Amino acid sequence: ADAIAFTGAHQAGIVTPAQDRLHFVAFDVVTKDRARLVRMLKDWTAAAARLTAGRDAGEIGAVGGILEAPPDDTGEAIGLPASGLTLTVGFGPTLFRDAAGKDRFGIAAQRPAALVDLPHFPGDLIEAPISGGDICVQACANDPQVAVHAIRNLARIGMGVVTVRWSQLGFGRTSSTTRDQATPRNMFGFKDGTANLKAEETDLLRDHLWVQPGDGPAWMTGGAYVVTRKVRMLIETWDRTSLGEQEDIIGRTKGSGAPLGRADEFDEPDLEAKRPDGEPVIAIDSHVRLAHPTQNSNARMLRRGYNFVDGSDGLGRLNAGLFFIGYQRDPRTAFVPVQLNLARHDAMNEYVRHVSSGIFACPPGVTGASDYWGSTLF
Ligand code: HEM
Repeated sequence: ADAIAFTGAHQAGIVTPAQDRLHFVAFDVVTKDRARLVRMLKDWTAAAARLTAGRDAGEIGAVGGILEAPPDDTGEAIGLPASGLTLTVGFGPTLFRDAAGKDRFGIAAQRPAALVDLPHFPGDLIEAPISGGDICVQACANDPQVAVHAIRNLARIGMGVVTVRWSQLGFGRTSSTTRDQATPRNMFGFKDGTANLKAEETDLLRDHLWVQPGDGPAWMTGGAYVVTRKVRMLIETWDRTSLGEQEDIIGRTKGSGAPLGRADEFDEPDLEAKRPDGEPVIAIDSHVRLAHPTQNSNARMLRRGYNFVDGSDGLGRLNAGLFFIGYQRDPRTAFVPVQLNLARHDAMNEYVRHVSSGIFACPPGVTGASDYWGSTLF
């Protein structure tokens, strides 16, 4: 009952009601052999179809095989249900051409213009070893063990073809992606996802999320581009900031999540409203104003991020933050201009550090048993 359909026009894990847990992985492709890469993508697809149905990664299973061979499933999800698992694949810029400009797999001409190399944004502290990657897989589930099990088994199946470049665990989704989900909170304690694109808003999803025919190479039609940003939060500094200042930085009240000056969470922010002293009610450098579509040529995206705490940093601070995930039809007109606006002006910048960055082209959904991840590209 808690299994989410793997096949469909679009990949699951994008407008799917955001699950509670994340394991996001980026792989480097280590083979030069296109046929081996395609073979692995087919094997991954078959495994993903089984895993999302709550089954073992392989046909034989964790304990069904001979004693002389390693099992085709690692076993730690035995007895666990599907737990709403979704697996979403994407292809990074470096899959198309390597750093020397070489067409690695005969697909360089298929690289969409929208799959840009993200620029350096002001203040960026991006660490290369935890950024980029040739292929990403986003695993979301309501049980962390199920999400980790899925990524582990894909890495195992990919041995010799891909290596894990970096991966990120997340908990406590920071965005609702459907109207009937209550808005969760991020590590700043604020509701996150209020003004997000929602699954029910099909006209907006067509205009701002799904790649449309004619947007670029046909293989991406029905897909979406994902941008990931690991944003470290300086929570100890934040926690010494007054409630009023916290609310001014976000532009919303901490309790209900209503825009400052309005009553309800889902009221539209009034960016024109002035206080008696003539200052704007929603500050000029507040996050909500700077990220608002009206300040960014109507840019919208579907945010699907997660909180993280990667232990502590040895200096008495929690290594905490937000793993931002944003899906969109074209990063050139959505993430890039919005993040440029935020990087330049956002009062929140004093409390956050962007340490990892990724961009991937997520193809449309697989249509049935004979289809596979990347079939429209290869
Ligand atoms: C809105 C927090 C990073 C884009 C919000 C809201 C909060 C928030 C609390 C208001 C509630 C909502 O509508 O969801 C944060 C935190 C971040 C972060 C804590 C980093 C640690 C980003 C980044 C982007 C972004 C990197 C994209 C470049 C947006 C957008 C909105 C928003 C588009 C909706 C604005 C509107 O239409 O009112 N964010 N955010 N945020 N954020 Fe962020």
